[in-house]
Amino acid sequence: MEKDKLLNYSDYLKLDQLLESQDLMSLKNGEPAHDEMLFIIVHQSYELWFKQILHELDSILDLFCQKSINESDISRSVLRLNRIIEIQKLLINQIRVLETMTAMDFLEFRDHLFPSSGFQSSQFRLIENKLGLHKDLRLKYGKHNYKDVLKKNEKVKVEDSENNKTMFLLLENWLERTPFLVFDGFDFWKKYSDVIKSLLKQEEQVIRNNPKHTIDELESNLKSHDATVLAFNAFISTEKHNELIEKGEKRLSHKATKAALLIFLYRDEPILHSPFNLLSRLMDIDELFTNWRQRHAIMVQRMIGGKIGTGGSTGHAYLNAAADKHKVFSELSDLSTFFIKRSALPELPKNIKEKLGYYFKS
Ligand code: HEM
Repeated sequence: MEKDKLLNYSDYLKLDQLLESQDLMSLKNGEPAHDEMLFIIVHQSYELWFKQILHELDSILDLFCQKSINESDISRSVLRLNRIIEIQKLLINQIRVLETMTAMDFLEFRDHLFPSSGFQSSQFRLIENKLGLHKDLRLKYGKHNYKDVLKKNEKVKVEDSENNKTMFLLLENWLERTPFLVFDGFDFWKKYSDVIKSLLKQEEQVIRNNPKHTIDELESNLKSHDATVLAFNAFISTEKHNELIEKGEKRLSHKATKAALLIFLYRDEPILHSPFNLLSRLMDIDELFTNWRQRHAIMVQRMIGGKIGTGGSTGHAYLNAAADKHKVFSELSDLSTFFIKRSALPELPKNIKEKLGYYFKS
């Protein structure tokens, strides 16, 4: 074959286009700033990695949209979630590279960037929406909707992602279909509730029988015990859970919550390893996005102090609040409040251990 017909490294990777895609605004304005190249390349690298995250996420959503999801689908999803996690770690570390630019160096070209901002990253919004960040749970950004700052074609895609199936909804649906909750006469929730009630009674006795307590200490300990009892009662009752959903204090349905708890409590059963890994990796992803947001906010404070952002937000203050609020799977993490130690777990009947398969049908 002729040499110029062979696939060439730079053609395959479209390097001519890629490496010609760094247009320095400072150069255009006649005062080239050395660090603007770093600023552009770091942002472009982020967008490439966002593209890869979306590629993985879309494939996982497709797997979860199927009518039946089998064990290999779960394992494949876990592998892809793991890949997202490794990319996220890179994204957090990349901030250090950008921080080799000082705040004074940033000032050399910052004025040329108004009113553009990372706030306009449509891929970042797609990731948030596809994971399941609900539009009503987003922080208000001035008086504007977060989509108002996007380009027309990007806005359409982001809007679409708000209305499509998200990882949160598909996970909820999958958990609700878990066949283990009531199975062959074994009612997990009834057994779990009975264990909790008896543990709480024992705890009350321990408080009451403690000879070292003063009357004040006894009252205060009983008060906090009552609060624990209330929290458990609210957790156990579907009605109370639904009330919290209506008030916007919870999102995950009671059925899905029960299934997730079962998976966490019985994760030592081989059959629950993959479901447990799936839930754990989703919590990791949520945590790592929070880490990235916090890390980005710290870097922003170092770069611009208390100034407003180029996109017009309160800057560092907005970013910290978003890190706190924009979480998707925190209800899974909160479940540890309701864990009980292994030795107190209701024992799974032998026939259940034998019969349970990985195959979930809708
Ligand atoms: C000198 C470096 C940077 C500064 C000073 C900075 C500053 C800011 C500020 C102030 C905001 C809030 C919106 C606004 O008012 O503009 C913001 C949002 C954002 N930035 Fe950056 N940023 C920097 C680097 C980066 C990098 C490297 C990325 C990677 C893609 C990025 C991605 C984002 C995203 C996704 C948001 C939206 C966050 C949200 O709404 O939760 N930023 N940035």
